[in-house]
Amino acid sequence: MNAIRIAVLISGNGSNLQAILDACQAGDINGEVVAVVSNKADVYGLTRAEQAGVPGLVVAPQAGESREAYDSRLEAELSQLNVDLVVLAGFMRILSDGFVNRFAGRMLNIHPSLLPKYTGLNTHQRALEAGDEEHGCSVHFVTPELDGGPVILQAKVPVFEDDDAEELAERVHTQEHRIYPLVVKWFAQGRLTMEGDKALFDGEALPTAGYASDE
Ligand code: GAR
Repeated sequence: MNAIRIAVLISGNGSNLQAILDACQAGDINGEVVAVVSNKADVYGLTRAEQAGVPGLVVAPQAGESREAYDSRLEAELSQLNVDLVVLAGFMRILSDGFVNRFAGRMLNIHPSLLPKYTGLNTHQRALEAGDEEHGCSVHFVTPELDGGPVILQAKVPVFEDDDAEELAERVHTQEHRIYPLVVKWFAQGRLTMEGDKALFDGEALPTAGYASDE
């Protein structure tokens, strides 16, 4: 298969972006990050893009702009880049249904919880407050339902009694940097597809908790 063209969408630090850039550079992913798109200027992820020699693009929301109008500008940029895969890596905007449907089966997200638990924000604090003994992260195909698309791969971490949200986030991040490049690698190999509300790996529907499900 040809190397795939990847756009990574970020809003901040870009440590997951870095993990994917590194995996492409190392030849683990048969793909190329052709652009890094941020909704915010001055974020460290754009510096990472520059350091990797990848074009960085800021698509900042304009005053009074509707979600649909913003998303169609974003879509226009991505279409021009002719991307095979859109990777959301800490892109902190809710996307309109039209945009999501346009990239159905070609857009991935990473979320810092064991979905379907804790969609939305403050996942680490919420896991601590619930007294969970385990927490983690999920890579999933993006569908119009917020953080609700079919899970491809999850990684679990233990929650220790004296953890604070920061310590827990750091533990989860370490796992994010392992599972996200692996899933992108599978996608680039043509092993992952989405059919209806299912993620398929080598043509077989994955369980609800994804490839590494222990149920
Ligand atoms: C990651 O922990 C990712 O799971 C989370 O944002 C962080 C981005 O970190 N994403 C979400 O919360 C999306 N709902 P990074 O910029 O260092 O990759």
